Amino acid sequence: MRIVQVPLGSRSYAIKVGGGLLSRLGAECARLKLGHRCAIITDFNVGKRFAKAALKSLSASGFDPVLITVPAGEKSKRIGMVEKCYNQLATHRLERKSFIVALGGGVVGDLAGFVAATYLRGIPFVQVPTTLLAQVDSSVGGKTGVNLKLGKNLVGAFYQPRLVLCDLDTFKTLPKREYLSGLAEVVKYGVIYDGVLFTQLERNLAKLLRRDRLTLCDVVARCCEIKAEVVGQDETESGLRAILNFGHTIGHAIENSSGYGKFLHGEAISIGQVAASKLSQKVLGLPSGDAGRIESLLHRSGLPVKLKLNPRQRKKLFAAMRLDKKVSDGEVRFVLAEKIGRVRFGCQVPAELLAQAV
Ligand code: NAD
Ligand code: GLY
Repeated sequence: MRIVQVPLGSRSYAIKVGGGLLSRLGAECARLKLGHRCAIITDFNVGKRFAKAALKSLSASGFDPVLITVPAGEKSKRIGMVEKCYNQLATHRLERKSFIVALGGGVVGDLAGFVAATYLRGIPFVQVPTTLLAQVDSSVGGKTGVNLKLGKNLVGAFYQPRLVLCDLDTFKTLPKREYLSGLAEVVKYGVIYDGVLFTQLERNLAKLLRRDRLTLCDVVARCCEIKAEVVGQDETESGLRAILNFGHTIGHAIENSSGYGKFLHGEAISIGQVAASKLSQKVLGLPSGDAGRIESLLHRSGLPVKLKLNPRQRKKLFAAMRLDKKVSDGEVRFVLAEKIGRVRFGCQVPAELLAQAV
């Protein structure tokens, strides 16, 4: 097992990465000295596979868990579902010392985290992420929230979990497309922060694609370490944390303008990273060899790297980019790469260069 610390003063916590961790959920929660009543929030796909083990582990450690199951998918990330969860928590008399376990992918983590941040003005929560994307990204760093009809993640809170348990065995049942989507975020960490990790990914891709446990343990732990370092310096995204959005300005616009659901998040940000690399060549002089390596690694990971758009779709994409949360003073700002392993945030890009890259 690997342990990564997220350094946030009194809100610091550990991320534990390894196999068989779900069966240790109860023991790990007991070390945190939380109240004995708790709720697992999960979705139907994840619940039918892992809820029993989680409930058993919590009960064996003396906790009194209840199970709240929501439909799988992005549609559960909405205010109405938050209210349903509050009602269940209140019905089961969860109180201030009680805690929530978010068992699932990023949807469950964001929803359950927001419920935990706001129920009784905040109760503790533990993340047990079960997708690759959730283990390397969404469960770490405390961004929680839900969508509005007008856009994704428009309501939320920064609220840190007390512990993140990344059980690599949960990937055994994760559909291939979801797994590959998570790999796009893994590649991103190499581009933004760690050229050595990027080279390791190039070298060990075959092992990663067959979900080799030892390789995954190193890679997931390294991605969490990078995210922890970044969040430790800039928890609420006033600066540095923006680097985690490499490929996301264009990626989010692709998700939005194509209607959510056509592309998975990682698929859209794979295309977004390739487009951002092209912009980086023009604006920051990213060597063409580096841009080629980024595109090639994403392509070899089974991810889409380009998108054919007709003029109407192009217009929609540009409109979506202007609506992105990362727009500042009416200007779209980009995270761009100087070389693999080093990026700059807040870059302005002339409109004609953007048009060429997309
Ligand atoms: P998801 O939670 O929808 O999970 C994907 C699918 O896989 C779902 O159908 C789920 O039921 C299923 N699943 C999950 N684990 C499984 C397993 N082990 N075996 C079988 N099926 C499993 O999607 P996701 O990609 O994990 O997360 C996407 C969400 O994360 C988006 O809402 C996005 O906005 C959010 N996100 C948040 C942050 C953050 O910092 N908070 C960062 C990135 C993404
Ligand atoms: N996923 C981007 C962030 O956590 O800031």
